[in-house]
Amino acid sequence: MSSPNDTTVERRRFGRFDDEVSEIGFGCGGYWGFPVFSERAAETLLHTALDRGVNLLDTGPNYSGGNAEVRLGKFLRGRWDGMFVSTKVGTTLTDRGKIVKDWTVDGMRASLEKSLKRLGTDRVHLLQLHSPTLEVIRDDGAMGFLASLREKGTVGYLGLSSSGDVARAAIESGHFQSVMVTYNVGHHRESGDIIREAAGAGMAVLGKSPLAHALYDPSLYRVRSLSQVWYILRALKTSRRGLARARRYRFLNDIEGWTATSAALRFVLDNQNITAAIIGTTKLKHLIANLDVSGRPPLPEEVVRKLEEVAGGAGGGAGGGAG
Ligand SMILES: NC(=O)c1ccc[n+]([C@@H]2O[C@H](COP(=O)([O-])OP(=O)(O)OC[C@H]3O[C@@H](n4cnc5c(N)ncnc54)[C@H](OP(=O)(O)O)[C@@H]3O)[C@@H](O)[C@H]2O)c1
Repeated sequence: MSSPNDTTVERRRFGRFDDEVSEIGFGCGGYWGFPVFSERAAETLLHTALDRGVNLLDTGPNYSGGNAEVRLGKFLRGRWDGMFVSTKVGTTLTDRGKIVKDWTVDGMRASLEKSLKRLGTDRVHLLQLHSPTLEVIRDDGAMGFLASLREKGTVGYLGLSSSGDVARAAIESGHFQSVMVTYNVGHHRESGDIIREAAGAGMAVLGKSPLAHALYDPSLYRVRSLSQVWYILRALKTSRRGLARARRYRFLNDIEGWTATSAALRFVLDNQNITAAIIGTTKLKHLIANLDVSGRPPLPEEVVRKLEEVAGGAGGGAGGGAG
């Protein structure tokens, strides 16, 4: 399927550093990575994104029951040049498939070794701590180990996926080159300060759940695929507040010239302190519609005003990120 304009996704500088990443990143997890989702469809999605200039690929050892990294590694064979691949440490899967937290140096080392093996590489561009605690950020042993990975070149940059005080402490610590925070139409005031502080410190800022899981889009509830059932169950499990609040953002479906998700994504990209929005999708038409938002002019001012008004009344939170 081709796009109406087939343009290349725009790039942004990775914080104060030399690398550039696509302003839309491909989320290699969730339903996309599960064996039940067709291998061929998953590959087509990824390669379509790469063909349109996406180079930022985000995954994790516990994503999709451990299969996401395997899939990504398989589809990237022969295509690593120019890629910017991010994986995580701190959350891993036991041999029995149970998700566990492990912030010990030995645990993180073993987790990264397995990730590299699954991905089929000897280095990743970005290694993110997956929702660490304050103790982890203050643990000299852990920080020393992570810094040594950077010195050896096993990882290009260190980042973390976090929020609130932990994210703030990480920014102040100077140990990290990037931070990933939930940022979307329903959750922007909460992360606003952290995004400004991180960008001010020269860090890259990755926006997770940038579409707020598209919970405000009525088509999500007209179930036509197994993935939709999975998404609705995920929202019920991790984002009940977001589901309830999504009603307030339904007006996004009525903006002339925009679909609700394209407006929601443009809102995220209009924040110049955001380096990239990481989106998960299992549908080619969704992927293409998302990529087409890159390079579009900013959202009309009245829409931004309305979003601010709604956020003021909502107290935040349509589609916070889990994962
Ligand atoms: N703690 C963490 O590290 C963490 C947490 C959360 C997320 N993340 C990262 O961020 C990525 C994305 O996050 P996310 O999956 O939570 O949220 P998201 O990107 O905000 O939303 C994904 C949802 O939006 C739908 N969607 C995508 N494009 C659409 C379009 N154009 N029109 C309508 N619906 C559309 C997808 O359904 P379809 O499949 O039907 O398109 C899916 O239900 C993850 O893959 C992961 O890489 C990281």
